[in-house]
Amino acid sequence: MSDSNNTQEFDNKDLNTYAGIAEHYDTLMTDGYYDYDEIAKNLCDIVGERRNLMELGVGTGLVADNLLKENSDYQITGIDNTSAMIEQAKERLGDKMKYELQDVTNLDLDQKFEAAFSVGGCWYFIDNGEGNDLELCSHIDDIDISKQGLRKVVEHLEPGGVLALALQPVHTNYSKELTEELTYSQEIFKEDSGFTKHYAFTNSKGVIAEQFYRYLVIPESNAHDFFKEIDCKPIGLNSSRKFFVYQKN
Ligand SMILES: C[S@@+](CC[C@H](N)C(=O)[O-])C[C@H]1O[C@@H](n2cnc3c(N)ncnc32)[C@H](O)[C@@H]1O
Repeated sequence: MSDSNNTQEFDNKDLNTYAGIAEHYDTLMTDGYYDYDEIAKNLCDIVGERRNLMELGVGTGLVADNLLKENSDYQITGIDNTSAMIEQAKERLGDKMKYELQDVTNLDLDQKFEAAFSVGGCWYFIDNGEGNDLELCSHIDDIDISKQGLRKVVEHLEPGGVLALALQPVHTNYSKELTEELTYSQEIFKEDSGFTKHYAFTNSKGVIAEQFYRYLVIPESNAHDFFKEIDCKPIGLNSSRKFFVYQKN
């Protein structure tokens, strides 16, 4: 991670949208970035008998697709604020699920859910290794707006409903050849409130797609305290340490 504080450096960039890399997203993700099969199996265990589910940051529908392969009875509503991402989910899954092009921070649906989940979506936890605290990582880089989003999510849960946030390893700088033609690189820049991540796809001619995303990072204990304020209790990590689970009172 870079030692410099780059808050000013990124302020003139087109920050915090997935539109820049949407076209190449699946090539990256299906090359082992996440294990969607394992993620889906973990989520099935966590939701148990619940069927009415909401995905926060559905992206191109890769998690939902694997969940529906596990059990086609799930009724999934996918939320995302990037049309170039959710359009790919629609192409992938058609009428097998519902889609809402909404910013989760103003979530407004006329329905409540038995479970909500996010896999690298609007929120997730950074896993600093066993014995170390997690950190809540938010795609919404303003603390008050991020909290507003969590309030909205919890308002859309039934009493007893669960919220499962996936764990991810600490982000690092690296470069990886995805195909003969396409290389992915990411660079992390530390900031006071979290970090900015530069995603770049290059071919022999240079950078063909990129985006800068500024993430907010919140200590685990602060996250749990906030969830308690909004009527949600921390349940803990699931047995295979892939998700942290909260439950609405
Ligand atoms: C890394 S992708 C994860 C997609 C999917 N869960 C997966 O595992 O492939 C993050 C997604 O969250 C969406 N997102 C970020 N901030 C959001 C917000 N405030 N409201 C709704 N969606 C958001 C982005 O548009 C993007 O599609």
